[in-house]
Amino acid sequence: MYDVRNIVEDIIWVGTNDKRLTLFENMFPIPEGVSYNSYIINDEKTALLDTVDNATRNTFLENINKILNGKALDYLIINHMEPDHCGIIPDIMALYPNIELVSSQKGFELLKAFYPWAKDTKKVVIKEGSTLSLGKHNLTFCTMPMVHWPEVTAVYESKTKILFSADAFGSFGTLNGNIFDDEVDFERRFLENARRYYANIVGKYGPQVGRVFEKLAGLDIKCIAPLHGPIWKENLGYILEKYKLWSSYTPEKKGITIVYASMYGNTENLAQHLSTKLAEKGIKDIEMFDISNTDSSYIVNSIWKNSHIIFAAPTYNADLYPNMRSLLTKLEYVGFQNKSRPFRKLFLE
Ligand code: FEO
Repeated sequence: MYDVRNIVEDIIWVGTNDKRLTLFENMFPIPEGVSYNSYIINDEKTALLDTVDNATRNTFLENINKILNGKALDYLIINHMEPDHCGIIPDIMALYPNIELVSSQKGFELLKAFYPWAKDTKKVVIKEGSTLSLGKHNLTFCTMPMVHWPEVTAVYESKTKILFSADAFGSFGTLNGNIFDDEVDFERRFLENARRYYANIVGKYGPQVGRVFEKLAGLDIKCIAPLHGPIWKENLGYILEKYKLWSSYTPEKKGITIVYASMYGNTENLAQHLSTKLAEKGIKDIEMFDISNTDSSYIVNSIWKNSHIIFAAPTYNADLYPNMRSLLTKLEYVGFQNKSRPFRKLFLE
């Protein structure tokens, strides 16, 4: 059964929701699922902006069929070649053999790697500042290398002032009919999901996200339509501010993350005692994690949020407890930095 919603009259969300996938990228638990957002611009020329993961193929094809209703699809715009967005490209090419694919040079290199047989398809190679007119709607392309793969582009539509932002400003969590930010309680349902998504997947590329902000500074943006999670049309300032903090590795709040490893409960006892002593000093917002039974993506999320971290672990084989070493390696891997700040001044004075 199809499942579509208008953003404006002729720009339609045709994405899908996936509640069956347990591990995003076969790594990150997503108990609340994930949405794969895709959009159709239905103008004199029609364009599909990205596709979805293969797992939700049937609904996606019904969505496209519902909106186009027999009309040809002129362009498939590929902003991101990761398989959660490019999984249905072969089906689209088979259904619309005259379609033109639009992507960056790097995007086409990846297309060729994933789908070698697609090399003879009609192509429009775009680069920074390239434009494409669909009739009333005019698109401008903005390259966003490493947010989160090298080929990524965003698209700005000047009539509606919608920015199709690829993975940027996205979140884990399905859209259960409510696809817009003003239809959901974002802080309750999505904030932890959005930060966990950012920190673990894009976190290493803070400087690249910073450069995107520089590029967007001159644009009048009324709506941000990412490839995952809610579409921002009311409170854009909220998510932009969060991204400025996250991408500059600036804590979102005054708080403490305590991560402990404990074989027989002694280091755990120490961590509990410490948390009580901190609480007695009036410190609020203490989050505590047993490293051995918490997926590291949740710990990385907490560390990205809070101003301070405490690590506590025993030794093992005359070295650091392996799960703690693994977390430290992960923090290095996601580019964790800028965490040196005075404790006493912030919490006790
Ligand atoms: Fe949503 Fe980078 O994939």
